[in-house]
Amino acid sequence: MLRKLFSFAVTAAWLMIVARAAYSQAPGSTKCASLAALGGAALPNPATVVTAAEWNPAKQAQGNTPALPEHCEVFGKMNERSGVNSERYAIRFHLRLPANWNGRFFFEGGGGSNGNLGTAFGNLQGQQRTNALALDYAVVSQDSGHDNAVNNEPNRNGTVTFGFDPQARLDFGYRSYDQVTQAAKALIQAFYGRPPERSYYVGCSEGGREAMMMSQRFPEYFDGILACSPGFNLPKAAVFGHAWDMQALSEVAKATGIYDRFGGPFLNKTFTDEDLDLAAQAVLAACDKLDGLEDGIIGNFDACTAAVVAPQLSAITCRGPKRVTCLAPVQVTALEKIFAGPKDSKGELLYADWQWDRGIGGSTLPKGHPGGDAYYQGWRIWKMGAYDSPVNSAIIATLGSASVSALFTTPPTSVATSGAAPLAYLLGINFDSVGAKLGAKAGEYTEPVSEFMMASSTELSAFRKRGGKLIIVHGVSDPVFSIRDTIHWWKEVNRVNQGSSSDFVRLFAVPGMNHCAGGPATDQFDAFGALVNWVEKGVAPDAIVATAGPASPWPGRTRPLCVYPKQAHYKDSGSIEDAANFVCRE
Ligand code: BEZ
Repeated sequence: MLRKLFSFAVTAAWLMIVARAAYSQAPGSTKCASLAALGGAALPNPATVVTAAEWNPAKQAQGNTPALPEHCEVFGKMNERSGVNSERYAIRFHLRLPANWNGRFFFEGGGGSNGNLGTAFGNLQGQQRTNALALDYAVVSQDSGHDNAVNNEPNRNGTVTFGFDPQARLDFGYRSYDQVTQAAKALIQAFYGRPPERSYYVGCSEGGREAMMMSQRFPEYFDGILACSPGFNLPKAAVFGHAWDMQALSEVAKATGIYDRFGGPFLNKTFTDEDLDLAAQAVLAACDKLDGLEDGIIGNFDACTAAVVAPQLSAITCRGPKRVTCLAPVQVTALEKIFAGPKDSKGELLYADWQWDRGIGGSTLPKGHPGGDAYYQGWRIWKMGAYDSPVNSAIIATLGSASVSALFTTPPTSVATSGAAPLAYLLGINFDSVGAKLGAKAGEYTEPVSEFMMASSTELSAFRKRGGKLIIVHGVSDPVFSIRDTIHWWKEVNRVNQGSSSDFVRLFAVPGMNHCAGGPATDQFDAFGALVNWVEKGVAPDAIVATAGPASPWPGRTRPLCVYPKQAHYKDSGSIEDAANFVCRE
């Protein structure tokens, strides 16, 4: 028996050795390993080091990760240096090169204030079940020049410590995307022996800002760009938009005497989930019918203005004490103030107003989605935080005090990340004077935030000329970056291009959708496929079919997402659950 066991173990070990040897001889594996020797003059930036290059076998689908192809996985870094306060900085990147390459390059945009390397699987956005690597794209992701695990000083705004480092600021703003694109393309050339035939940049939110930045600052790099819920005016959205909302909500907390444990107005408790649902129902009552069909989707959102919503808000305003069936006048005033957008004392709009839409509510939808409650309660989570939170929680998000003080204003300043300070900082912002800090330079901070972090230029002629195509998808109920801002930008681009911008830039609005996904919306769509079709086959997308997810109010419902300013109209016959019975028109 012992002898049998012994011979079984020897055979198994031998088989493993043979399998490993065969695997390490897989075509590509030697080439992959050779990338580890690359660096210095062999790459566009000589201060680049490939830190690892490893051949990975194909993997079966696991949970939410689709099946992955056999590929070479590369880690690298560039411009390693000692920065302000002796912090160590570098731009780190993560590249995956599939064995069966489709000849295309995919840059996966970041999120929040970055500082994470990213998986380099290639998120296609639109809740798709596959990713770019699975489709055999060469995919890169990166940390944009700082590392949240390292550059994270508790007394200097935590993970926004990099805001004190002039170079790290620029790397986050625009420089790292340029550097990593060049490095990735060179490594692709080294590995496959040819450059990519097509290049794509895809991202949402911060990643959407990066995507737009590429079309404006580096128009030659990408053939197709997909910018979802883009934070192209990120500093303005934070310094003006978020702070304004915090101040509006603090009025509700003060009027109703709700304070947190540090004595600050408790914003999380200014509206219950039911209060927000009441508001959402009022908006629906005012605006659902404007597109000709009462289906729970406000297709004609442009027409859903403050004036149209006002009578319904008035109808749900308590005449006496606050009850669950009505909103206190101070709550209605706060909503109206928030939706009107941040203004200075002269009444000038500083960021953008917000689109009235039903996505403001959401408690009737199931909680506990894998993406977090923000998936269905995006508006409340971003603007005020979960009702049950023991502390004020919306004030320290990426739009909050740490980022506003250290990253979005110059010179950078510190604010404690806990206790009373974060809220007090936001409530102390003066909208007549804070704007100067976006345009300021100070000593070694030689570029103003308004210039290097905003991707709001409408001068896209170089991108257009090289045949680039840009698709923007934005949720109408996005509480982080206002679709009104995106529409304003698009109108300006269209004006600059004498009304012909649809030749190269198209905007698709998703009614009800919150930030990047979620909300009562048809938030599953293949905008990336539409982009590739446009770039490679010249088929400009007039509509992108979108589906409502399983936990939406209408699982499986489909709708066309229309090129703005067109919107989906029911053809007056057929199922209202089917996109085929809708047409896009103005
Ligand atoms: C995001 O990437 O989702 C994000 C970026 C900045 C502020 C808020 C959200």
